[in-house]
This record gives sequence, structure tokens and C-alpha cells, in this order.
Amino acid sequence: VEGLFAVGALAGVRVMVTAGPTREPLDPVRYLTNRSSGRMGFAVAAAAAEAGAQVCLVSGPVHLDTPPGVTRVDVETALQMYEAVMARAAGTDLFIATAAVADYRMAQPAPRKIKKQADELPLTLVKNPDILAAVAALPDGPFTVGFAAETDDLDTYARGKLEAKGLDMIAANDVSGGRGFDVADNALKVFWRGGSLSLPQQPKLQLARELVALIARHHGGCRA
Ligand code: CTP
Ligand code: CA
Repeated sequence: VEGLFAVGALAGVRVMVTAGPTREPLDPVRYLTNRSSGRMGFAVAAAAAEAGAQVCLVSGPVHLDTPPGVTRVDVETALQMYEAVMARAAGTDLFIATAAVADYRMAQPAPRKIKKQADELPLTLVKNPDILAAVAALPDGPFTVGFAAETDDLDTYARGKLEAKGLDMIAANDVSGGRGFDVADNALKVFWRGGSLSLPQQPKLQLARELVALIARHHGGCRA
């Protein structure tokens, strides 16, 4: 019955995924960013589409092909990602935030190339909006799943983010010693209010399929 009706654990569910890094300009030729490759987020988008969801993937700058059946929206900065997500949040049932959003941006990006002069160059940064927390705070908003990359105290920080941002679930990965970022394999520990589950080290697409199956069980359980 392919083609006529979506089949799978997320059949007909409208999913939005954020992925990749964001890029925050310092001046017209330089930017601040981080080590996210976007691979985990693209794998989650692919797995959700395989599970029958209608998937919108809001992506920062990455070098990856769009998974089959996924609608992609490209952005560069955290503010652009925030705008793209908030504009589409009302039509979303399930929001999965895998993006490594830059926490700060330049207070005032230089309009022209910064020239080499003094030995020190202090930069003033201001906090970016928390996209995931903003979606979680929407009245009648989607089921929300966050990611947390931590180098220590994984359980404490992940549970702290679940509570502080008012999320339904959070998937945490250990990025100490360069693990998790820009690599093919990953492992996750997933937390929700009533429990947790460890998904073992494996290729990101397989891991994403297991995560999507777990999310589908919890998301389904919360629907009328
Ligand atoms: N996130 C977001 N918008 C931000 C920052 C983070 O949507 N401005 C989302 C990420 O996509 C992720 C989750 O929030 O799903 C946790 O991100 P993380 O960087 O681990 O947490 P922070 O709240 O930014 O805290 P910190 O970086 O200090 O650990
Ligand atoms: Ca952060």
C-alpha cells in the first residue's frame, strides 16, 4: 500500500527536526560555529520519514544530502533557525531538536572586515534564543524531544534540561574526548519523566531508527 497511505510507527505525524550547527557572523568573512556535522539530525529525519512521518528538516550549514521524502529548510544563524521553526511550529505534532545551536552571537557583527591591529580583540557576545524551550512553552505545542551533548554528569544535566525546558523526552550523548561529534557511530541515553533507556553504540541511522521507535511509543501514548 505504499504511496497511497503512509505506514509505520509515525504514519501521518507531522515532524520537525532541527539539525547541524549554526553559524554566527563576526564580520562579513568570519563566523563562530561548533563541531556538529548534522549527521545525527539527518539520520533522525530519515528514520522519521521511513516511519511514515511528514518531515520538515530545518538545517544549519552542513555537507549532507537531504534524506528521501524530507522537506528541507536551510538556515545559517540561530536567529534564522528560531524564525524558521516558530513559523512552522503550529503545524507540527512532534519536534525533535538535534541542532547544535550556538548559545551566543556577536552583539554587533562588524559591517566590514575586522582588520588586524591590537594584540587583543575582545568580542561582546549576547545569548541566542533557546529554540527548543520556546517550542516547548507554546500552548498546545508539539511533543518535544531535546538532545544534550555532555562531557560529564550526563544523567544530572540531561534530567535538568528535561525539567528546565519542559520537554517530553531528551536524548543525551557523551561527547567527552571528541565522542559523538563528526563521527559515524553514536550511543544515546534517553530520559523522560517516568524512566530512561540506553541505546547502545551503533551507526547513526540504526540508532536514529531505535530512537524514533521509542519516541513513537511515548508520543502515541500521549495522544487522545
Ligand atoms: N537548543 C535550542 N536552542 C538553543 C540552544 C539549545 O533549541 N539556543 C536545543 C538543542 O538543539 C538541544 C537542547 O536544546 O536539543 C540542548 O542543547 P544544549 O546545548 O545541550 O543545552 P543548553 O540549554 O544550550 O545548555 P548548555 O549548552 O549550557 O549545556
Ligand atoms: Ca548549548
